[in-house]
Amino acid sequence: MKIPHRRHSSPAPHYLVGLMSGTSADGIDAVVTRISGSGPASQIQLVAHVHRAFPRALRQRILHGCRHGTVAEICELNFALGERFARAALQVIRRAGLNPPQIIAIGSHGQTIQHRPDAGTPSTLQIGEPAVIAERTGITTVADFRVRDLAAGGQGAPLVPYADWVLFTDAERPRIIQNIGGIGNLTFLPPRAGREEVVAFDTGPGNMVIDGVVAALSGGKRSFDRDGRWAAHGVGSEKLLAELLSHPFLRRRPPKSTGREEFGESFVRSLLARARRLRLVDADIVATATAFTAASIAAAYARFVVPRLRAGELAQLQIILGGGGAKNATLCRMLTERLGGRTLMNHEHFGIPDSAKEALAFALLAHETLEGRPGNVPSATGARRPVVLGKIIPRC
Ligand SMILES: Nc1ncnc2c1ncn2[C@@H]1O[C@H](COP(=O)(O)OP(=O)(O)O)[C@@H](O)[C@H]1O
Ligand SMILES: [Mg+2]
Repeated sequence: MKIPHRRHSSPAPHYLVGLMSGTSADGIDAVVTRISGSGPASQIQLVAHVHRAFPRALRQRILHGCRHGTVAEICELNFALGERFARAALQVIRRAGLNPPQIIAIGSHGQTIQHRPDAGTPSTLQIGEPAVIAERTGITTVADFRVRDLAAGGQGAPLVPYADWVLFTDAERPRIIQNIGGIGNLTFLPPRAGREEVVAFDTGPGNMVIDGVVAALSGGKRSFDRDGRWAAHGVGSEKLLAELLSHPFLRRRPPKSTGREEFGESFVRSLLARARRLRLVDADIVATATAFTAASIAAAYARFVVPRLRAGELAQLQIILGGGGAKNATLCRMLTERLGGRTLMNHEHFGIPDSAKEALAFALLAHETLEGRPGNVPSATGARRPVVLGKIIPRC
């Protein structure tokens, strides 16, 4: 394909790469997907997935950059991350047994450094220079997906609902697709949902508060609570939990999105100070942070999803977890309890690794962009209209 943004209607399958690094800044998920058809009728197959963890020092640079980064630091980080994304792309292409010329495009989300959709001048910034990705791989790269939605009056987030809608809409059952990344976000799909019926929003923290607490309590030795083992040894404080649950974000009506600005370092610092005053031991603090995520997700369902279900649909509702938090057994147990013992499913039940779906979503969004189709879901982002997302760096 010489002109990368030419519309093409051929139903022949295309290979695309998707690259994602979320607010956890734990590393890059890279996928190769095989996409045939187009729009909502697209058939998407996962061909390969790799996760490349960021070295500790790079993760620290990213987290520092989000809060205090100078223009010079962010400028350099943009190019350094571009190199990392390019390497991850080349690695997953090799893993798929393919060569770069067989890939029609890369969709790269980048790394969010700031997300300020509700500020006086709404803005968002994802870095990981796509020109570097295109130059190193020789592949047309689509990136910077969020800004067009923001320009159209939306939150710029969440963008994964388009892929959830294409992948998971069921003829009979309503579904919640719950991602637990740094932030938690859900896509609610009524049976046979049309695009305008999709409901999606950030539920609050995912792993971000748990990770922050674990890092602080372990003196930086651990960056997350593997399998929820630390939390399993503690007892959540109902008092502190009630205070955390009074955060105004949880009550706000969708469309809404959040990030490190609201549930990052300063939130964790005040949580820890409060926990110390309540004389909680470390395991109880981790348990409380974990309960906060579970309770905020359950509260989002009760407030904003259950009222939309028609008679008899609650019993039919399927909840499908994804993201790294789906591996936190204590979090999953707490969520099950708060949902009255409901069985939770995973992306793995649908043949998609829990940590691969978001990268897959950006491969699909790149595909839609190259076909000139909108990738945002205005009912999810609040945008005035569907818009074609992203910026295209052509191969040359
Ligand atoms: N085995 C595990 N046990 C508990 N938590 C995990 C596990 N694996 C990953 N996580 C959590 O998932 C996070 C990464 O999830 P991910 O979906 O990649 O989020 P993001 O999209 O924000 O990068 C890690 O920071 C960690 O908190
Ligand atoms: Mg991640």
